[in-house]
Amino acid sequence: MVSEYVGTVISTASSPSPANVDFVVTKGIVHRGQFVEIEHAEGTMLALITNVIKTNKYFERADSVKEFEARGNAIFEQFPTAEWEYIVANTRPLGIFTASGVKRPSTPPSPGTKVRLASTELLRKFYRFDDNGLHLGKVEFHDLDVKLNLTRLLKKHLAVLSISGAGKSYAVSCLIEELLDRKKEHGRIACVVFDPHGEYSSFAEPAKRGYADYSDKTLLVKGNNIRIGVPNLSIRVLASIIPGISLAQRRELSRILGELKKEMRNGSGPFDLARLKQAITEDSDIKSNTKGALLAWLSELESLKLFSKLDLPSIRDLVMPGRLAIIDLSDIIDIKKKQIIVSYIAQKMFSERRRQNIAPFLLIIEEAHQFIPEHASEEQAISREILRTIAREGRKFGASLCLISQRPVQLDTTTLSQCNTKIILRITNPYDLDHVAKSAEAIDKRSLDMITSLQVGEALIIGEAVGYPLFFRVRQRRSMPSKHEITLEEAALQYEESMRKRDEETEALL
Ligand SMILES: Nc1ncnc2c1ncn2[C@@H]1O[C@H](COP(=O)(O)OP(=O)(O)OP(=O)(O)O)[C@@H](O)[C@H]1O
Ligand SMILES: [Mg+2]
Repeated sequence: MVSEYVGTVISTASSPSPANVDFVVTKGIVHRGQFVEIEHAEGTMLALITNVIKTNKYFERADSVKEFEARGNAIFEQFPTAEWEYIVANTRPLGIFTASGVKRPSTPPSPGTKVRLASTELLRKFYRFDDNGLHLGKVEFHDLDVKLNLTRLLKKHLAVLSISGAGKSYAVSCLIEELLDRKKEHGRIACVVFDPHGEYSSFAEPAKRGYADYSDKTLLVKGNNIRIGVPNLSIRVLASIIPGISLAQRRELSRILGELKKEMRNGSGPFDLARLKQAITEDSDIKSNTKGALLAWLSELESLKLFSKLDLPSIRDLVMPGRLAIIDLSDIIDIKKKQIIVSYIAQKMFSERRRQNIAPFLLIIEEAHQFIPEHASEEQAISREILRTIAREGRKFGASLCLISQRPVQLDTTTLSQCNTKIILRITNPYDLDHVAKSAEAIDKRSLDMITSLQVGEALIIGEAVGYPLFFRVRQRRSMPSKHEITLEEAALQYEESMRKRDEETEALL
């Protein structure tokens, strides 16, 4: 289908060039962010409108406009000024479709060339959208769904960044819906979310009218119900959650852990921290100061009420193809406990995936800066090392990360730069913008400027999944909104209603 003519390439000092093509709008209205196609000696050039400027030569000279107005004669009454108004659009060429594929523009189109709105087919090809891909939104001004190929979006990890309230969790909810709705024949991966604020728990509830139901595909685990089986802890994992452990302490702990595991294999059953402490207390080979330190570390771990004889839930129950597991950490206040849970489950998922014991997965981490902080000591960043490892090596094993953060500056740069695709919603803080720009070479100055003016639900996607930066609008979610999405009015009403009920109950009791 040949699309509409909208203008003609003009000749100015800076246009047309391979980096810059201006055209005068001859028909209709064009918008910043819209795509156009321009005939070119090598094929068809696709370009993005980066600015739209109205000009009128009657108003070019400030002194004459002022003089006219001062005499009390409006200019437009004397001259046909309206007829002299015209619109120039600046565009940035993105690529040229040639017979042998898409190439980077190295020569400009000729002045005088007609400019048409880009066809959806051309855009779809340029961004390599996939009919069986993940439908996250729409390209604005073009009736085109953003459908991203699963592998290109997730294999080399994804980061979703913006200020608070710009729509990160909403966009990720759309991503989860797409993963849960995927057909088996297209390849289904498992999805696990670490959810510090309980923003995703609505996936586990039966849907109200008008919403899609995902409750039968969702497992919700409350943080306080999670247990880590002590026999499943390797000395490496155990040492990583006791960051201050010395070499001598580690050696003794490793030996005793080994002995207990051997006993278990010989039929004495799984053991817990109390049994480990008992074994240390009874061991006569450990020096007393090492013994004291180990017992103190283990008592501290015991007080977290997190360790037991068996894992609960088991990793295999968490990681299932086409299913979602939400690990709701909102009932845990202690950041160390949260980090230990993230660290343990992530380690376990990664090692089981390497052995092909579980399905390929996407591990979504909300508030990622809490778990992979940029500046924090080892003790305060227990989960950082394993998440760095998955970021570095996960793609070889089908272990993908989706990191979500409203504080990109506080997020580990090494890990962030391993996220080959980034979805960026509104960001206003210059430090955060700078940090994001540094971690993504594809992003240019003009795109950066546009990030600060995005509205809720508008996003820029850059990197592996699209090849070239693309602004798009996140689609409407199908699942029920998170309980955090209710208005302040609704929250106030709910509170007063609950108080009224409580008073009624108290009165009834009296
Ligand atoms: N694409 C969208 N369409 C419609 N409403 C949206 C969209 N994205 C976000 N919203 C609304 O904006 C509000 C904030 O969205 P969301 O909770 O996803 O923000 P967030 O970036 O995760 O914030 P925080 O960093 O505080 O967690 C919500 O009430 C949500 O309903
Ligand atoms: Mg959120």
